[in-house]
Amino acid sequence: IPIERFRNFCIVAHVDHGKSTLSDRLLELTGVIEKGGNAQILDKLDVERERGITVKAQTCTMLYNHKGLDYMLHLVDTPGHVDFRAEVSRSYASCGGALLVVDASQGVQAQTVANFYLAFSQGLTLVPVINKIDLPTADAPRALEQIKDTFELDPNKAVLVSAKSGINVEALLPSVVENIPAPVGDETKPLRLLLVDSWYDNYKGVILLVRIFQGQVKPGDHVTSFATGIKYHVGEVGIMYPLQTPMTVLRAGQVGYIYFNPGMKRSQDAKVGDTYTTVGSEKLVEMLPGFEEPKPMVFVAAFPVDQSNYEHLEDSINQIVLNDRSVYVQKESSEALGAGWRLGFLGTLHCSVFEDRLRQEHGASIIITPPSVPFKIIDPKGKEIIVSNPNDFPETDALHHKVQELQEPYVLATITMPEEYLGKVIELCEGNRGVQTELTFFTSIQVILKYELPLAQLVDDFFGKLKGLTKGYASLDYEDAGWRKANIIKLQLHVNKIPVDAVARVCHHSQAERIGKQWVTKFKEHVDRQMFEIVIQAIAGRRIVARETIKPFRKDVLAKLHAADTSRRRKLLERQKEGRKKLRAVGNVVIDQKAFQGFLAK
Ligand code: GTP
Repeated sequence: IPIERFRNFCIVAHVDHGKSTLSDRLLELTGVIEKGGNAQILDKLDVERERGITVKAQTCTMLYNHKGLDYMLHLVDTPGHVDFRAEVSRSYASCGGALLVVDASQGVQAQTVANFYLAFSQGLTLVPVINKIDLPTADAPRALEQIKDTFELDPNKAVLVSAKSGINVEALLPSVVENIPAPVGDETKPLRLLLVDSWYDNYKGVILLVRIFQGQVKPGDHVTSFATGIKYHVGEVGIMYPLQTPMTVLRAGQVGYIYFNPGMKRSQDAKVGDTYTTVGSEKLVEMLPGFEEPKPMVFVAAFPVDQSNYEHLEDSINQIVLNDRSVYVQKESSEALGAGWRLGFLGTLHCSVFEDRLRQEHGASIIITPPSVPFKIIDPKGKEIIVSNPNDFPETDALHHKVQELQEPYVLATITMPEEYLGKVIELCEGNRGVQTELTFFTSIQVILKYELPLAQLVDDFFGKLKGLTKGYASLDYEDAGWRKANIIKLQLHVNKIPVDAVARVCHHSQAERIGKQWVTKFKEHVDRQMFEIVIQAIAGRRIVARETIKPFRKDVLAKLHAADTSRRRKLLERQKEGRKKLRAVGNVVIDQKAFQGFLAK
């Protein structure tokens, strides 16, 4: 099949608008998978299935006969969430066009808008598809009007379908063939390929999903990465049909997989957006545009409840990271919680998916701190330092001569919702230090609202609050909006004057008091009375913003018992070693590990 009869396309849709169901129908139509199997081939991982969202992209090739000619169609799947915007954009870069799917009952939503602009800016041809027309609440004319008004797409080109019942899905592929342009690329020129996605295989190492822009690649070729400079021998090439199907060669215009021999060991070396060429052709080929190193923006610390589980937990983390090159992992140790890790993620969903995976394997035996965001310190000489651990925030005394300016990350949030919730949502955004940048009515009742928000506010369950206020009718999308000057301060929890390092966070001045009060009240609930008084304080900078005390058992014995403190503490710690009870000491205060779990639980 010549390149003129290749079509590379993806499906652009808001979460739940039917991308996976529609993909399955297309694969059935072309005989790639059997009819009636309701396993969504393109959604592989368990967590994805549970959450109903696509986290990792899975791609598939189809052969389709249109008017007597065979076409090779590559359906490139895209991650279904904003956190993976860089990856979504690489998937788009490998396509000539996209089906823009809109749920007929819900109409255009935040991610439809955001993904549309992303796809449009990359020059993709968009074919509008109105899905779920079988639903009694479907309102196809309204969806068509939105597509016309919001995206200036021709409603006459739209295909109305029900992915679930199969109505009219056969009209989709002719529309793909006729409307989406074929890729261009000279297969006789030196190799130039784009890394779109990757995943880990225990036997083969990292497998790369690639789009060939120029030249060809076959087993035995010696290739090199522009981003890492590492050279590899190609072991196998092939297409996803729907599983890996080896081919003798991948040519310009195709989307397929390759892996190396010996295999690539580290997922981190497979950088989405990277360009590969043949060794020797480095000077003849330019790197494809748009490559970005993944930037972790949401951080948590994780600790095993029982330190004897450390290695087991480390194995699990490494196992998950093998398939997710964008997670940042660094060992960290806390006085209160022992040895653990600081983990960085692209965004809040990315973070919670990872947490779910860990918890599924470890149940309640892991402590994870609430998410925090990095901040930037500009020192008096103008040097920029990005700090992701609140404990590394400069001490208040040092602030003046160590810091010229503090900055925090902002995002541009796009929220769509029915007009009736507008007031409440504006209130929510303003209450989260948001600055409104746009307000558009895109139909008589639907509103698009844009706000610049500190990422720190967004990670504080902003989406949950938004859903709550709008009965689930609002949708949210966001993109990076850079760093802004910030009025932030380190907030610490002290127990009898000793800081509990694992809990420290950096927050906005205006919030220090409220969060501090919550902390001390909540911490008090989880700590048992002891033989002496325990003072719990929240300290912002040098100021005590909240305080609680836990009275000792009985005043009169206090003096006597105080002397016995050390031996009591030692005994308790010995018991902990035996693993019967998991206790931790903060200074002279012995705290059940459960207290930390209870305190840190969301
Ligand atoms: P992400 O993977 O999160 O992006 O979701 P998705 O867009 O792939 O949505 P998915 O295909 O998983 O569909 C979401 C829900 O809508 C599922 O419960 C589907 O059964 C249902 N659904 C999809 N298409 C149709 C349709 O045409 N009609 C009806 N009634 N339901 C549909």
